[in-house]
Amino acid sequence: MDNQQHLISSRRQFFKGLSVAAAGVALPTLWNVPGAFADLLTLTPAQTEGPFYPTKLPLDTDNDLLIVNDGITPAVGDITHLTGRILDASGAPIRNALVEIWQVDHHGVYLHPGSDNGTNRDKNFQGFGKFLTSSTGEYYFRTVKPVPYPGRTPHIHFKVKRKGQPEFVTQCYIKGHPQNERDGVLRGMRDAKARESVLVDFAPIKESKIGELGAKFDIIFGVTPADV
Ligand SMILES: [Fe+2]
Repeated sequence: MDNQQHLISSRRQFFKGLSVAAAGVALPTLWNVPGAFADLLTLTPAQTEGPFYPTKLPLDTDNDLLIVNDGITPAVGDITHLTGRILDASGAPIRNALVEIWQVDHHGVYLHPGSDNGTNRDKNFQGFGKFLTSSTGEYYFRTVKPVPYPGRTPHIHFKVKRKGQPEFVTQCYIKGHPQNERDGVLRGMRDAKARESVLVDFAPIKESKIGELGAKFDIIFGVTPADV
């Protein structure tokens, strides 16, 4: 096939894809059209890892950050059930993604030797956890609502590891928190939609008698060459 024929063939593929998509089916035929899904789902922006990813992982790395190992005293703070889904740009769930989170305790202290105020660290707070997504792409953590620490509005760090893919690192924030307006990392995202996509409601769970909160943060990946 010479270049001319190849071009015609590619164009046919492209238009075929468009007409099928217009009928509302077979969206994946558009995967090789850059930006085709931009209006469907906002891709989650990558953000800095920051300096406080644990230098040494805790002995307990499960998805319940309120209890360390067999401890009987839970961490102090506003109990939060943090869930969400790991999705590709078409909304399809990504299974077997390893989701890691790390965050400060209710005193604003990380599980990291460089954290400010380290002597006040809540020893009952795990500080880090991980969860492997199932076929639904969902993850779940029990943790505490993050609080501010010097220089930052409250946030939770995420790192997502997928086989054969580069690590993806981002953060989510408490929607409506007054310090959001002064946060350099959050304000550093120029795109308003991207900024909005990392703001999360920490909402009271009606059925909870002890004031637990629910928070939902989906992570949407863009299409990468390995996915196509
Ligand atoms: Fe942080």
